[in-house]
Amino acid sequence: MAHGSRRMASSGRMVSGFGRIACAIAVMLLSAVAMAQAAATKVQAASTKVLSDSDCLSCHNLKASAKLQARPVSVYVNAETFQPSIHAKLGCNSCHSDIHAFPHPDPVRPVSCAGCHSSQTAAFAGSVHAIAEREKKSRFPACLNCHGNPHGMRAKTDPKSRVYPLNLPRTCGTCHGNPEIAKKYGFPDVYALYMDSIHGFALTSDGLLVAATCASCHGAHDILSRKDPKSRTFRNNVPATCGGCHAGVQVDYLAGAHGTAMMAGRPNAPVCTNCHTAHQITQVNVVNWQLKTVATCGNCHKKRLYTYRDTFHGQVTELGFVATARCWSCHGSHLILRASNLNSKVAPANLPATCGKCHHGATASFVSYEPHPNPHDRRQNPALYYAALFMNLLLLGVFLFFGLHTAMWLARSLMDKGQGARRPPATSAKKDDGVKR
Ligand code: HEC
Ligand code: HEC
Ligand code: HEC
Ligand code: HEC
Ligand code: HEC
Ligand code: HEC
Ligand code: HEC
Ligand code: HEC
Ligand code: HEC
Ligand code: HEC
Ligand code: HEC
Repeated sequence: MAHGSRRMASSGRMVSGFGRIACAIAVMLLSAVAMAQAAATKVQAASTKVLSDSDCLSCHNLKASAKLQARPVSVYVNAETFQPSIHAKLGCNSCHSDIHAFPHPDPVRPVSCAGCHSSQTAAFAGSVHAIAEREKKSRFPACLNCHGNPHGMRAKTDPKSRVYPLNLPRTCGTCHGNPEIAKKYGFPDVYALYMDSIHGFALTSDGLLVAATCASCHGAHDILSRKDPKSRTFRNNVPATCGGCHAGVQVDYLAGAHGTAMMAGRPNAPVCTNCHTAHQITQVNVVNWQLKTVATCGNCHKKRLYTYRDTFHGQVTELGFVATARCWSCHGSHLILRASNLNSKVAPANLPATCGKCHHGATASFVSYEPHPNPHDRRQNPALYYAALFMNLLLLGVFLFFGLHTAMWLARSLMDKGQGARRPPATSAKKDDGVKR
């Protein structure tokens, strides 16, 4: 690089002038094959001198033909984009180490990022994207899929970088917002879902840099499938991934029944994404989410949902009102404990406080109200059980009595009908009767 700039200072003007002419010729020749030999000989004279960056640019900063620009990496190198980029001071040759003259060697050696960025390259090599890339067999480094134009890369802290947090979702979205890729690999359109989530909203609308972007949950280079136990998004690793930012919630969750069950390897224990989803996370005061979450709890605790639905709280929830007790109003959302645990919000001693949040001054007798009335469970709800039994017996008795009554009534009316056929017509009898009296 130092070598290049010294050269530019001493004889840059002459070489770059020469370069410009040569370049013009060369570009012309790309479309006129017949003149190729002549031009090549002309520029050969120039190539005895090692080219500086400005020499390279004197040709490559010219607008190339549409065909050359349309290559995966355009041969048109925009000097205005290149100069402020992070690699500019390294010089063209640091990456294109085999190109010192024109004509260029044929073929040119593909650029390798690995020599200078070995740790990122190693991390990337094991990722899900490296596998997809190997199938494609592209000669361009896969790094460019995310980092973009090799002649315009910026530091990740630069708002113009494609991997700057505010720009990253769009960068990943070039593929993960693409319906074809989604269909081919069986993913949802993650980009659209994410942009609608509280994290996407916080990032794009509020410019909140601490909100979760794709890389906060997936990593950048070592992205793995959610099915890989080493992945940040593998089920059991999700609480730690979210906990990187929601540390307090993670502590509560791990101490609660669900976290304990998850760590014990129970496959049906919920992790953060069971209740919040991964890419459609909403604020927790959104009523639709709350209604859906009652059903989520109920999916695993079927009997409890069933019994909750019979209560005043459950009926109000069914109607969609906000102001009522949902599962977590009584159980807590993350530090959920068994009722037999003294610290549980639903332990008998704590019920006055738990119910009292909404029912001010709730007394011990008030909290004896059964939040999960189960008339089929004699052991748990004896009073309800016997009341229900009594009601059922009463109902049965009423049905039996009136059933019998109706059957006898029917028999009687049939008998009457049979006798009536043998009698004289009732109308005349009635008439006679009426007229005579
Ligand atoms: C005299 C004009 C000229 C100069 C000076 C020049 N190039 Fe080129 N370069 C060209 C042309 C024309 C092509 C297109 C050839 C083709 O069709 O692939 C090209 C192609 C390339 C390619 C693509 C090669 C391939 O086969 O894909 C690279 C990379 C490149 N140049 C880098 C450089 C670098 C680095 C420098 C400075 C050290 C430089 N060039 C100097 C004219 C020039
Ligand atoms: C950070 C490394 C880096 C630097 C610095 C760099 N390039 Fe490149 N350049 C690449 C990569 C990567 C490609 C994609 C092709 C490849 O991988 O070989 C590329 C492609 C090109 C191409 C088009 C190749 C094609 O096949 O379409 C040209 C022309 C080119 N570079 C010229 C330059 C010039 C001129 C400079 C200096 C002003 C320069 N490059 C500086 C990394 C670099
Ligand atoms: C799937 C997208 C993606 C691919 C592919 C990718 N990167 Fe990155 N890269 C990122 C993101 C995102 C960041 C920013 C990470 C952050 O903010 O911490 C980054 C940051 C970097 C950094 C800055 C230092 C660091 O590690 O944070 C370097 C250097 C880098 N990448 C090089 C590479 C190289 C070399 C390759 C190819 C082997 C590559 N990247 C491939 C997404 C990608
Ligand atoms: C000749 C060595 C060299 C090569 C080859 C090279 N880089 Fe770099 N790259 C650097 C250096 C040095 C820096 C840091 C510059 C600085 O901090 O001022 C850097 C910085 C970066 C950054 C920004 C890092 C940050 O802090 O955010 C990214 C991204 C990056 N390179 C990606 C690539 C990719 C992708 C390639 C391959 C196309 C590549 N580099 C090829 C030397 C190289
Ligand atoms: C808040 C953390 C978080 C953020 C932010 C996030 N993801 Fe995810 N992502 C996950 C988790 C967790 C999973 C695993 C989902 C599961 O198991 O249901 C996942 C799964 C995926 C999948 C696989 C989907 C499937 O059904 O197989 C893709 C692709 C994906 N994410 C891409 C992205 C992209 C692109 C972004 C940014 C636009 C992003 N993610 C943002 C946490 C996140
Ligand atoms: C060039 C297109 C492309 C870009 C850009 C890209 N991806 Fe991917 N991604 C893919 C493809 C293709 C797959 C499927 C690979 C496979 O299954 O073999 C994939 C797979 C994934 C998976 C694994 C899904 C699973 O669970 O199986 C995640 C997670 C993911 N990408 C996240 C990201 C994130 C985050 C970014 C941005 C930092 C990103 N991707 C950028 C194309 C891309
Ligand atoms: C069993 C379902 C469930 C699981 C598992 C779960 N949450 Fe929650 N989470 C909730 C409910 C319900 C609320 C709403 C609480 C409220 O409205 O008071 C909530 C609220 C939140 C909030 C809002 C702030 C707060 O504390 O009220 C955040 C942030 C949050 N959860 C993150 C997480 C993270 C991170 C994890 C995993 C470590 C997780 N959640 C696991 C159900 C769950
Ligand atoms: C990079 C940090 C980060 C990560 C990782 C992260 N979040 Fe968040 N999350 C935030 C920030 C910041 C907000 C607040 C956004 C706002 O209020 O505008 C938020 C908001 C939330 C909310 C809404 C809270 C409320 O008050 O209603 C929930 C729920 C949530 N996150 C769950 C999760 C889950 C689940 C995961 C893991 C899959 C996760 N987050 C990963 C930073 C993060
Ligand atoms: C994916 C299934 C699943 C979801 C969703 C779920 N749970 Fe659980 N829950 C469990 C498992 C498994 C246990 C542990 C049971 C054990 O230890 O025997 C548990 C334990 C409990 C306990 C402790 C009592 C007991 O039986 O151990 C309560 C209370 C509880 N959950 C309430 C909730 C609430 C409230 C929600 C919704 C906010 C919810 N659960 C969502 C699976 C789930
Ligand atoms: C009004 C407060 C309240 C609401 C709302 C509520 N519960 Fe309960 N729940 C309790 C109380 C008190 C107990 C302990 C007494 C009992 O077992 O009936 C309990 C017990 C439980 C248990 C068994 C706990 C153990 O230690 O065995 C589970 C599981 C449970 N509830 C889940 C749910 C689910 C799921 C919902 C929502 C569909 C819900 N609860 C709604 C108050 C409530
Ligand atoms: C999140 C707030 C909230 C919590 C916690 C809560 N409730 Fe309620 N409850 C309500 C609302 C709202 C109504 C219906 C409106 C009303 O009656 O004021 C209601 C209605 C009731 C009713 C029937 C109507 C009445 O007022 O007599 C009973 C009984 C009741 N709750 C008992 C309890 C018990 C017992 C607990 C604790 C185990 C409890 N609730 C916890 C909000 C709550």
